[in-house]
Amino acid sequence: MASMKAVRIHFFGGPEVLRVEDVPVPEPKAGEILLRVQAASVNPVDYKIRSGKYPLLKAEDLPVTMGRDVAGTVERLGEGVSGFRVGEALYAMLGRDRGGYAQYVILKPEEAAAKPETLNATEAGAVPLAALTAWQGLFDHGGLKQGQRVLIHGAGGGVGHLAVQFARAKGAWVAATASSQDVKFVKELGADQVIDHKAQKFEDAVEPVDLVYDLISGETEDRSWAVLKEGGILVSTLHEPDKDKAAAYKARGARYMAQPDAGQLAEIAKLIDGGLVRVQVQKVFPLAQAAEAQRVAEEEHTQGKIVLDTA
Ligand SMILES: NC(=O)c1ccc[n+]([C@@H]2O[C@H](COP(=O)([O-])OP(=O)(O)OC[C@H]3O[C@@H](n4cnc5c(N)ncnc54)[C@H](OP(=O)(O)O)[C@@H]3O)[C@@H](O)[C@H]2O)c1
Repeated sequence: MASMKAVRIHFFGGPEVLRVEDVPVPEPKAGEILLRVQAASVNPVDYKIRSGKYPLLKAEDLPVTMGRDVAGTVERLGEGVSGFRVGEALYAMLGRDRGGYAQYVILKPEEAAAKPETLNATEAGAVPLAALTAWQGLFDHGGLKQGQRVLIHGAGGGVGHLAVQFARAKGAWVAATASSQDVKFVKELGADQVIDHKAQKFEDAVEPVDLVYDLISGETEDRSWAVLKEGGILVSTLHEPDKDKAAAYKARGARYMAQPDAGQLAEIAKLIDGGLVRVQVQKVFPLAQAAEAQRVAEEEHTQGKIVLDTA
């Protein structure tokens, strides 16, 4: 049986619990695609899972292969898969039952779309989870429409830098908060107003908005109600917004978990290939240095994304 390298954890802990192991290459069953992975991105959920802080993964579920999104080429098609061909370049967000920090991974057709043509594999690998999170938060949960106003917290990071560009592409007016190193970057992405979160209180600077898209939570969320218009909505990627505060401000709150979605990835690829959205990859690590990649993502400032080269 052919084997491959995969980065797995057998118990929770710091980056040192990540192990590069030899495991069997998975077999695509009927309806599945075997992808030869070229790039896998590092997301905050990866180090939350690794440290045991992610509630949906328990010690009894270990060992697991890390990683939730990938880019690569089709190696083999399971029986009955149509619409894909061997050698085709794809990108995908994976269901929680598989891991992308590996040389091969199984994809379900409903998770995968053709890679944006204008991106190389590393850049494409950076996109799926962050982009689907931004897309679903702004449009599916936030209902953002052309001409509306949105405030995006954490706009220099993986999800935020894509959210700013999706909102602009939709024709929304965009205010954003970011770390000081990212203020220029976020302006260049098209935000109409950018606030250095340590230098200025956003609630003193931003006129009322229809949507607050919150990637930070805590006191950032608390202070955000004051900038929402009546009937506006605060959408969080982190936890359920306070219902009493929402009611007091005549606003709504929502929390969600991003889901794989091939159709949305195809839409996102069009925006990227159309030049409306660019992808920022700050640093690329080889698969064997996944532990260092997670340490950097967790402890250091990152502009955009960190990616593992698995080729
Ligand atoms: N629910 C879901 O399905 C889902 C999906 C994706 C992500 N998430 C969560 O959403 C969060 C963001 O994800 P991400 O991938 O974008 O993370 P990220 O790449 O680490 O980006 C976070 C950004 O926020 C900045 N920041 C920190 N404190 C801030 C503040 N008070 N105000 C404004 N900006 C601040 C950070 O700057 P510094 O680096 O300088 O601190 C960084 O640029 C994470 O907690 C992640 O777990 C949830």
